[in-house]
Amino acid sequence: MSASASTIIVGDKHVELPVKSGTIGPDVVDIGKLYAQTGKFTFDPGFTSTASCESKITYIDGDEGVLLYRGYPIEQLAEQGDFLETAYLMLFGELPTAAQKADFDYRVTRHTMVHDQMNRFFQGFRRDAHPMAVMVACVGALSAFYHDSTDISDENQRMIASLRMIAKMPTLAAMAYKYTIGQPFVYPKNDLDYTSNFLRMCFAVPCEEYVVNPIYARALDKIFILHADHEQNASTSTVRLAGSSGANPFACIAAGIACLWGPAHGGANEAALKMLMEIGHPENVQKYVAKAKDKNDPFRLMGFGHRVYKNYDPRARIMQKTTHEVLNELGLKDDLLEVAVQLEQIALKDEYFIEKKLYPNIDFYSGITLKALGFPTSMFTVLFALARTVGWIAQWAEMIEDPSQKIGRPRQLYVGPDRRDYVGIGQRG
Ligand code: SDX
Repeated sequence: MSASASTIIVGDKHVELPVKSGTIGPDVVDIGKLYAQTGKFTFDPGFTSTASCESKITYIDGDEGVLLYRGYPIEQLAEQGDFLETAYLMLFGELPTAAQKADFDYRVTRHTMVHDQMNRFFQGFRRDAHPMAVMVACVGALSAFYHDSTDISDENQRMIASLRMIAKMPTLAAMAYKYTIGQPFVYPKNDLDYTSNFLRMCFAVPCEEYVVNPIYARALDKIFILHADHEQNASTSTVRLAGSSGANPFACIAAGIACLWGPAHGGANEAALKMLMEIGHPENVQKYVAKAKDKNDPFRLMGFGHRVYKNYDPRARIMQKTTHEVLNELGLKDDLLEVAVQLEQIALKDEYFIEKKLYPNIDFYSGITLKALGFPTSMFTVLFALARTVGWIAQWAEMIEDPSQKIGRPRQLYVGPDRRDYVGIGQRG
């Protein structure tokens, strides 16, 4: 990594700060010593200009609409590989050989069951609990069952915890779904691939054999690949910050799930489909575009805009194509797709969206496909969390193994009251 320096003038001080270059992408100015040398902090509340770490996992070029996982374009991985291959790539940095892939699939498959006492954990929830609330609780509770993989200083325990997280998320997600619809839990089957196993755990019932539809399995596996990782987004940064304190991996992933739930982040896929349902018909699109542009109206086009992508989200392109493929192959017609296509066409020609560089993101089309696959909107963000667990755990492991890592502890600009003395209650107001 090459380095040079930049000089900044802070008050009467000329401070030289190192500039570091990565493989590709923007250089960074290392401000680690700024406070010690100037007594001043930088200020960047949304971290719009702040790099929080070095990473080798995912690269995004927001202006060009590029997304690489360990250097491989997302388009190639989604079209030619499967989700567990992407998981292997994320964890180990290289595409697996056939033997490595078979071994990895075998190891993940044999960690898909959860401790049977987890079943009782679900009984505490109301049947109408949001599945994301259930996931936050149950994933955090895994640390109460797997004490043999919570010592983060032990490389072997880190790997077992990583495999357990990747393997058990589908099982817990399916249990969360089954619980809300009052159907019995379905155990994983070791002779099914990862995504087929998940579909069966979600949609099989004891009364009849469940045959996985290969179109569904391929489409969902591709959706998982698209959602696997995305650099230092809000939930990944949450996982890293939680992990920097030494918290166990299950607790860190639970923190990531909680953050992903927000409608500005992973909750946008559920919000985007609800928005399309509210718009209802292509003739209503103009009215909602006007609402989105109105500064006095809090309405936003869910599934539009992105902190990093100021071009089309490459995942949204693949998602749009997958949505058309699935609906065509299944012979389904969904008026919401027509609404989405119309909305995209109008928005992308509108000066407001052009000027603010607002394009569809991954959440704009994913909901239509997930609905066609049979999932309720409340499960959309759970599926996002299931897939993103691979990226979260890879980023967590990278942080733990980074010799320079320390507990994350930002500072602040204090704008509260200056020092003042206590006033007894009898002397107040
Ligand atoms: C994900 O970070 C990641 O990588 C996330 C993610 C991942 O894989 O982890 O990609 C997944 O979270 C995708 C984003 C899903 N969220 C949504 O679709 C919700 C709707 N979009 C937004 O609320 C918004 O675009 C964000 C949150 C995604 C990005 O917000 P920023 O970067 O903080 O930008 P901003 O809110 O400051 O908006 C800039 C301007 C504002 O107008 P001005 O105040 O400058 O006049 O654009 C406007 C906003 O009002 N704007 C929108 C809009 N998004 C931004 N106006 C209408 N509709 C929208 N969707």
